[in-house]
Parts: sequence; C-alpha cells; structure tokens
Amino acid sequence: MSVVSTEIREIQREIRKLLVEKNAIMLAHNYQRDEIQEIADIAGDSLELARKAAETDKEVIVFCGVHFMAESAAILSPQKTVLLPRLEAGCPMADMITAEKLRDKREELGPDIPVVTYVNSSAEVKAESDICCTSANAVAVVNSLPNNEVFMTPDMNLAKYVQRYTDKKISYWKGFCPTHHLLKPEMVTEMQIKHPDAKVVAHPECAPDILDLANHICSTSGMYAYAKKYPEGTFIICTESGILYRLRKENSKATFLHVTEDMICPNMKITSIEDVYESILNMKEVVTVSEPIRSRAKLTLEKMLAVPRGN
Ligand code: 13P
Ligand code: SF4
Repeated sequence: MSVVSTEIREIQREIRKLLVEKNAIMLAHNYQRDEIQEIADIAGDSLELARKAAETDKEVIVFCGVHFMAESAAILSPQKTVLLPRLEAGCPMADMITAEKLRDKREELGPDIPVVTYVNSSAEVKAESDICCTSANAVAVVNSLPNNEVFMTPDMNLAKYVQRYTDKKISYWKGFCPTHHLLKPEMVTEMQIKHPDAKVVAHPECAPDILDLANHICSTSGMYAYAKKYPEGTFIICTESGILYRLRKENSKATFLHVTEDMICPNMKITSIEDVYESILNMKEVVTVSEPIRSRAKLTLEKMLAVPRGN
C-alpha cells in the first residue's frame, strides 16, 4: 500500500464532497496514480470505464485517464458533462493514425474488409471504422464479424495477439504503445531466472516476443482476475506501473514484481490529485465531440459494447 500524506488525504476528502455536490462520478483507469484510483467510484480497464460512462445516471463524469477515454464517454453520453482534468493527457499510439490516413487505407482494402479500431484512437478515426474493440474484447470482437479478413488499427501488437486466437486473416496498421514497446524479452527472462516460480502476465500491447514468454495475456482488469486464482503466487507484471497498486492491495499474500520500473506512461501519470480537485471545482476541461463525427463514432462503440467481454 502506498503511503499517503495528510495533505493528499484532505484533497481526497474535498474531491469526494465535490463529487456529491456536483452529482458527478469519478472514473479512473488502472494506470492512474494510486491516490486517484483509491477514491474513484470505479477504477477499471478501458472497457469497464466505457460501459460505466454509458450507464451512469450522474450528470458529470470526471475521467481520470487519457483523452480518448474521456472522448469515448462524451460520444456515448452527449447529455452529460465529461471532464478531463488535464487536457494534454493524450495517447501517442492514438495519434499514430488519422481519419484521413484511415480513409486512404479503406480505399486500398476495398469494401469486404472491415476495420476494427482499438478504443485508443480519436473520435474521427472511430467514425471511419466499422467497430471498436479494447484489449479485453478484441478477440471476441474480431470473431463476431462474418468476414474472413479484418483490418485492425492502430495497434499492431494487439492485431498480432488477436491473430493467435482467430482463423481470420488479420492485417494491421503499424502503430504501437511506446510504453509497452520498450519492453525487451531479455528483461523478462532475467526476471524469470531470478524468480523461476513466477507467472509472467502481459498486456496485449506488448510485442509478440514478450507474449511468447507469458503465462497469461490479458487486459489490465484481466490481471486482477488472474491474480485472484493464485492467492500466494508470484507474478512478473508486464504492463504500466499503475496496475500494481490494486494488485498489491487486493492480494496481500501474493508478490507482484514489475518487469521494469521504466514501464511508466507519462500521459497516464500527468494527472495529479490536485488536478482532479481543480477540475471538479471549476468544471474543466470539458471534452465534447461535435456532430456528425459523434454519432458515427457512437455506432462503432455501441457495436463493440454489444459483443460479450473476452478476458
Ligand atoms: P486496458 O486497460 O483496456 O487493458 O488498456 C490499456 C491501455 O492502453 C490504456 O491506455
Ligand atoms: Fe497510450 Fe500506451 Fe499510455 Fe495506454 S499506456 S495511454 S496505449 S501510450
């Protein structure tokens, strides 16, 4: 458990009070800082947060995560006020494809190859797609399509992961997550030598040579479920550092080793607890998506939400 200062405790209490006053819900991604996850109404993976954003009856959604996540909430719930405490919290992978580039790609692919777009993408890119997916449901989404060939964007590693679990032919855009991409197989094997009984758990955004070494591959929330199966287990965790907070909190007898301390997403960590407080107090920064992009992007997210969750 992290040590939290009295000052942070005070800010956390003020945030919780403001949330009630403003009829707001606080959603936090599993990579957010510990003190943010600790007081969120829901901490979860991209799929859980998208579902919650679509379902909530609160008037305001405070999204502690990165821009595409708040944008998805705004797409699904245009009547609500969606706040992103730090507007510059982006996702470099999402920026690796644009709507224009995807339109050109679609022309090249022709009408029979559907485009499956990772939620880590802009609203404009979603609007040019057939259906969205997250790391938790990517295999299920691809397998739900009637076509024998599918194009995935923007994450090539997610596409290669899906290819392992489907007979369909997957082609892909060559985007990647810089945080997951820095992981090299030697870093994993070095840890395995030191901890031979440990289970390697990896996120599908890791490269194939990392996934080859994994005992289990899943979304961030999938890691919580997997850890529960081995209450006294040792795990080598191959994803962003924020995941460790809840893994350790919920499994006090297990040991969680971060494969490398360098796996930190600067965009996920840019939001501080003070930013969250300022955001709710001043109702900033409001994220909106204009029409007709919003309605087209909404269709792709709703189609995804209709597919049952994978892992
Ligand atoms: P999930 O939490 O959906 O597994 O995704 C990880 C991620 O890339 C968030 O940026
Ligand atoms: Fe984007 Fe990777 Fe950061 Fe997730 S961890 S927000 S995919 S850069």
